[in-house]
Amino acid sequence: MAKNKQHPKTIFICQQCGKESPKWLGHCPECNQWNTFIESVVRTTKRGSISQIPAGEALELDQVIIESRPRLILHSKEFNRVLGGGIVPGSLVLVSGDPGIGKSTLLLQISSTISQDNKKVLYVSGEESASQIKLRATRLGITGEGLYILPETNIEAILQRMEELSPALVVVDSIQTVAVDELDSAPGSVGQIRECTMQLMHKAKTSGIPILITGHVTKDGTIAGPKILEHIVDVVLCLEGENFSTYRLLRSIKNRFGSTNEVGIFEMKSKGMIELDNPSKVFLSERPQDTIASAVVPTLEGSRPLMVEIQALTTTTSFGLPRRTTNGIDFSRLILVTAVLSNRAGIPLANQDIIINVTGGLKVSEPAADLGIALAIASSFYNAPIDSSLAAVGEIGLSGELRHVPQLDRRLSETSRMGFSQCLVPQTCLKDNSSTNIDLIGIHSLRQALKKALNRSKRPENSLGI
Ligand SMILES: Nc1ncnc2c1ncn2[C@@H]1O[C@H](COP(=O)(O)OP(=O)(O)OP(=O)(O)O)[C@@H](O)[C@H]1O
Ligand SMILES: [Mg+2]
Repeated sequence: MAKNKQHPKTIFICQQCGKESPKWLGHCPECNQWNTFIESVVRTTKRGSISQIPAGEALELDQVIIESRPRLILHSKEFNRVLGGGIVPGSLVLVSGDPGIGKSTLLLQISSTISQDNKKVLYVSGEESASQIKLRATRLGITGEGLYILPETNIEAILQRMEELSPALVVVDSIQTVAVDELDSAPGSVGQIRECTMQLMHKAKTSGIPILITGHVTKDGTIAGPKILEHIVDVVLCLEGENFSTYRLLRSIKNRFGSTNEVGIFEMKSKGMIELDNPSKVFLSERPQDTIASAVVPTLEGSRPLMVEIQALTTTTSFGLPRRTTNGIDFSRLILVTAVLSNRAGIPLANQDIIINVTGGLKVSEPAADLGIALAIASSFYNAPIDSSLAAVGEIGLSGELRHVPQLDRRLSETSRMGFSQCLVPQTCLKDNSSTNIDLIGIHSLRQALKKALNRSKRPENSLGI
């Protein structure tokens, strides 16, 4: 009997210019690039339309009906926030992160909460056996009703199971372990990742079932696989955190249905990823009173204000060249602030090693933290404490002037909520923020900020009594 199912054939495509070839070429004759050919599958059967419009037809925008399937709201407030209010039906979401950061843990917890709402969830794992997943689930206190575990790496088998089960959510852990039979290349290769993602995307769009996939990152921190992976999926989330710290930040890098500025904050515990209701409180909890070399800055992570503590240590250098070390801030920001402190505020830092640390393993990238960095360095250098009721925010210009920071009202409400009674702000921001229950101190220059913030009369004695 003749087979009516046509087998797909494999070809090689140049990733730069799209030239096709029946065999692998090291050098592309079209765009002259080297090593750009990847194996791909050509399907002779049509994939068909992925929406209400029949394949090949165009519809006037006015006639397009918005499909009113509601978002899948998760129990996790933080995950919902990062997605922009729950998972959109038929969307493909990539969760990437370093090895061991907690991707599988987080997705297992998310799956469990969906299954508790009497919905089916298909959890596909190509990395772990069913008993390993069960072991983790037991540790996390997850019971399994409605949560179907499928240890599988073959994409056709996964799609088949999805068809039969018709779940409310599918998790594929990880995209680097699944493969299509037609390609000879190993799972995790560029061609395999591309083809599997395309198939999952097509399935998600035609069935309306949202799919969460996890992805590895390479040594330099980028998502492993082709850049096209990030283009295909609807949402790219990144789970970040330092090895030594238990805090995890879920950051949105791309989101077709919401803002990319949002950040979810979790703590990794033996019971799994626990949401932090009041992250500012947690990050400031170990800060001593009237401490030296520590400044608190109301920063913004997306639209969320977050109080962070910046610490500095200055010591006379033992080497010819002074060393600068940063943890949690951009190195170039420290160089800028140090140069302005030396040249505009007259603090002789040329022979000082400087270490900067943002506590809790957080990363602060916005220039609004400049003033906090400068105050922490000056406080350490003069051994003069900063009043513990004082917070500070402002970008420092190269002339030593303080510059405007965005969304000051949000920052100030968090500052006030955390019990701070005063805040140093750039003078230019004062006119926008007259009504607040914090004592706002408008500052023109870095020099003026140092005079206001450093309490040199309270200089504590050191252990030697000098
Ligand atoms: N018993 C435990 N108590 C506390 N934390 C644990 C325990 N077991 C595992 N962990 C934490 O869980 C982390 C592993 O989490 P998980 O497997 O979800 O990470 P992952 O990002 O999926 O890793 P991979 O990239 O290997 O798939 C470990 O690094 C560890 O920090
Ligand atoms: Mg994992």
